[in-house]
Amino acid sequence: MDAAYKRVNGNSGQDAQPNEQDKVKRRGSMYLEEETSKKNEVVSCIFSLKEEVGALARALRLFEEKGINLTHIESRPSRVSQEQYEFFISVDSNCSPALDDVIECLRTQISGQVHELSRNKQKDTVPWFPNDIQDLDRFANQILSYGSELDADHPGFTDPVYRSRRKEFADIAYNYRHGQPIPRVEYTEDEKATWGTVFKELKTLYPTHACREHNRVFPLLEKYCGYRQDNIPQLEDVSRFLQSCTGFRLRPVAGLLSSRDFLAGLAFRVFHSTQYIRHGSKPTYTPEPDICHELLGHVPLFADSGFAQFSQEIGLASLGAPDEYIEKLATVYWFTVEFGLCKQGSDTRAFGAGLLSSFGELQYCLTDKPKLLPFDPEKTSVQKYPITEYQPVYFVAESFEDAKDRVRKFAGTIPRPFSVRYNPYTQSVEVLDNTQQLSNLANSIKSEMGKLCEALKKLE
Ligand SMILES: [Fe+2]
Repeated sequence: MDAAYKRVNGNSGQDAQPNEQDKVKRRGSMYLEEETSKKNEVVSCIFSLKEEVGALARALRLFEEKGINLTHIESRPSRVSQEQYEFFISVDSNCSPALDDVIECLRTQISGQVHELSRNKQKDTVPWFPNDIQDLDRFANQILSYGSELDADHPGFTDPVYRSRRKEFADIAYNYRHGQPIPRVEYTEDEKATWGTVFKELKTLYPTHACREHNRVFPLLEKYCGYRQDNIPQLEDVSRFLQSCTGFRLRPVAGLLSSRDFLAGLAFRVFHSTQYIRHGSKPTYTPEPDICHELLGHVPLFADSGFAQFSQEIGLASLGAPDEYIEKLATVYWFTVEFGLCKQGSDTRAFGAGLLSSFGELQYCLTDKPKLLPFDPEKTSVQKYPITEYQPVYFVAESFEDAKDRVRKFAGTIPRPFSVRYNPYTQSVEVLDNTQQLSNLANSIKSEMGKLCEALKKLE
């Protein structure tokens, strides 16, 4: 379940804490470790210098000029570059204010790489993020609310049968683990009738309101995944279809995930999906995402390669990002994956799932009532929005390709001490923070370039 209907801000989700095994696993690939100094009066940092005569002397002169007394210094060959040495230093905390100036000089004039250790720990702490697709199993039990807990104004709040049904779905998701087939569900006649009403109404609007990618994929879902008015498709069938198209897959989720966890799933091309359906008393209304929203709104787009890349880009940008940037990325997600519009020739069409699964808003969004602005992550990420009414503002993307490039550029402004890359062969995220990883990437690109040149030659 994403945050499309219930907004979850910043710190409300607890970041998962890595276990001992993971701590060990990540040491080789991550940034420099934090020192667990018990002495608050000592301030420490690590800086790296190119191995050349006089380099250390120049650095130490900076400390001397500021009157900073080093209480400890040691060196080691750099783990990042063979041409560099790393120096670990400690100074008296009384020198802390002057140390700011020295660190700035080290960064700009000499080293470029300085890592503060025991001072202001929060500043340099990178939040935990999943390294491989199996790690997503941890999100299963850190949901913010269980799927069967309904608010008092929910249409199913006083319906014990509906509440017990919701618990069945939540339990399926809670016990699900990566690699297992998603359990099939026998939907009741009432549930199928609700789906049928939504399906029939929305299908009449798609040819004139949905983007061409949605309209291209929809018939394929009817042909291969059981999209019919009298049938609610099974998540497992849909997930397999998506995997064959773009590598995206669905995974059931038991309740509301934090924005950080939900976005992290996208980095692995995993979409956390609900499996239950809205309450039958109000087929055209749901206060939270349900299977109509997921299957009719989200799924068709995840079968498009351009959109899949765009979505993954948001996910990769979120890994290890500070909380304030998670908030910004969640807002970018809101105005694109949920409520995005895009240009198609001289037309504007909807590609956001919140629009494609709402008969009323899908019509409204293409009238002259809302304000349309060009998609620009810098501005989009700070736009305020309501969650219980139609959007007063929408952002229009030039294309998925253009939107992806813009998100990638925006991701470059996120302060984190490494870049990441998804390795589809191992279904893991590689942290590009050392020469070995970069060398692997270069070899991979070289191999791909070789194939491209060979193919071009054969076409000539
Ligand atoms: Fe959604």
